[in-house]
Amino acid sequence: MKKNKNREVKLPFKETKNIVANALKKYVNKSKKDNEVVLKQNSPEKIAEMLNASSIFENGFSNTKELNNFISTYLENTNHLKNPRYMGHQVAVPHDLSGIPDWIHGTINNPSSLYEMGPAGATLEAFMINWMLSQLGWFRGKSLYDFKKLQNNGSGILTHGGSIANMTALSAARSNIAPESWDKGNPKDLVVIGPSTSHYSIVRALSIMGMGKDSFIPVPVDKNEVIITSELENVYTKIKNEGKRVMAVVANACATSTGLFDPIEEMASFCKKNSLWFHVDGAHGAVALLSPVHKLKVKGIEDADSIIWDAHKMLRVPSLCTAVLFKKQEHMWNSFHQKGSYVFHENEVIGMDSMPFTIECTKSALGTKLFWSFALEGLDSIVDFIENSFKQTKDLYNYLNKLEDFYCPYEPESNILCFQYKPHKFNDQKQLKLRYELINSGSFYITSCIINQKRYLRVVMMNPLSKKADYRALAHSIKKIAAKI
Ligand SMILES: Cc1ncc(COP(=O)(O)O)c(C=O)c1O
Repeated sequence: MKKNKNREVKLPFKETKNIVANALKKYVNKSKKDNEVVLKQNSPEKIAEMLNASSIFENGFSNTKELNNFISTYLENTNHLKNPRYMGHQVAVPHDLSGIPDWIHGTINNPSSLYEMGPAGATLEAFMINWMLSQLGWFRGKSLYDFKKLQNNGSGILTHGGSIANMTALSAARSNIAPESWDKGNPKDLVVIGPSTSHYSIVRALSIMGMGKDSFIPVPVDKNEVIITSELENVYTKIKNEGKRVMAVVANACATSTGLFDPIEEMASFCKKNSLWFHVDGAHGAVALLSPVHKLKVKGIEDADSIIWDAHKMLRVPSLCTAVLFKKQEHMWNSFHQKGSYVFHENEVIGMDSMPFTIECTKSALGTKLFWSFALEGLDSIVDFIENSFKQTKDLYNYLNKLEDFYCPYEPESNILCFQYKPHKFNDQKQLKLRYELINSGSFYITSCIINQKRYLRVVMMNPLSKKADYRALAHSIKKIAAKI
């Protein structure tokens, strides 16, 4: 292998930066046109070949031309979330300039879990956590600059994603009910209860924590997969009679497949009455808190003991960035350290470390990404984005619901909508085939899910540019494909 001694010369900073910026600008402009392809499907072998991956891997970029080709090929082989006909997963369609913090972080590499390794990033994380706590009424500081340990304050940290955040909250719940488990292992009588439609990361966390997946006791849900609160009582009575203890009760705010909210307030008062830890999985829907119009959907959330909230879903942050928040700060301190130790260096060192409270040791500057999302256009525009995406979904629902051939099982409560095309004629396999044909055509990107054992097509309206003409085109494309299968 030839040694490359002049790497800086081959990729001069200014020219490289311009190449990348121009390619991204072109990409953004093109992606926003609804007549462009959303997702072009190529095999991994073909993509690797087109990227010239082996040669570049071995020798590095030989010149800026090669870099240019690489970037344009790379961008071409992406899912174009900025296309108004991207209506797929719960992944943010970020602002065009949202990538800047990732660029800064990639250049300076200051992990934010140790204050001295990244004071600015750690500060913005603490600042954003203070803001999130304040939305829940869990912040006791006078200003968001109050980073000291405050009496009766809540606490929180940012993690790389909701799955890790759910595990962090469950670990804290276990420390609360069985503090000895950290040293001695799990007592055999602990269970977690929640809707049978809880996100799979809950059960996965319990398995990883050594409690086994059977320690999750599902509570029956209604036809739209919302928890039946009266069943909560029945399940709890049965568990108690079996001599088991409830480590946590979990609620969906909102459910991944349907976007519907569990009755948080009722569940919160059930937990209060029975002195049970209440965990709200608000990965997608905790943002309803920010909207005066939609706040009622999460009424009672402030009575939870722990909450997770994905910023890379509805706060427009590029993946990944999730907050895990605790009403009582002690609960976070105890999650991984049984002696209740916490690392607020009051005298010796300036600042605060989040490392003792995370599953992850090294963490990227997540707070900076989150802060940036607000810094680009301000808080109001994020609230507008949330309200608009909920409205887009309602508009699409109203439109499809009027068409004879489409069936929507429920009125959407968030920006997730499920529907079927001619459910009496098209079985589960055919609904799925409709999706594959549609995304293979490149004209739309939508997802699919199972509700109550039936297959549905599913959209998540994340793109502010999606409009009524796109809804009409969606229905039209589905009809056209259906006529052929
Ligand atoms: C309700 C819920 N919880 C947890 C998660 C997991 O979040 P992440 O993908 O950030 O790990 C999701 C993801 O869609 C979700 O919808």
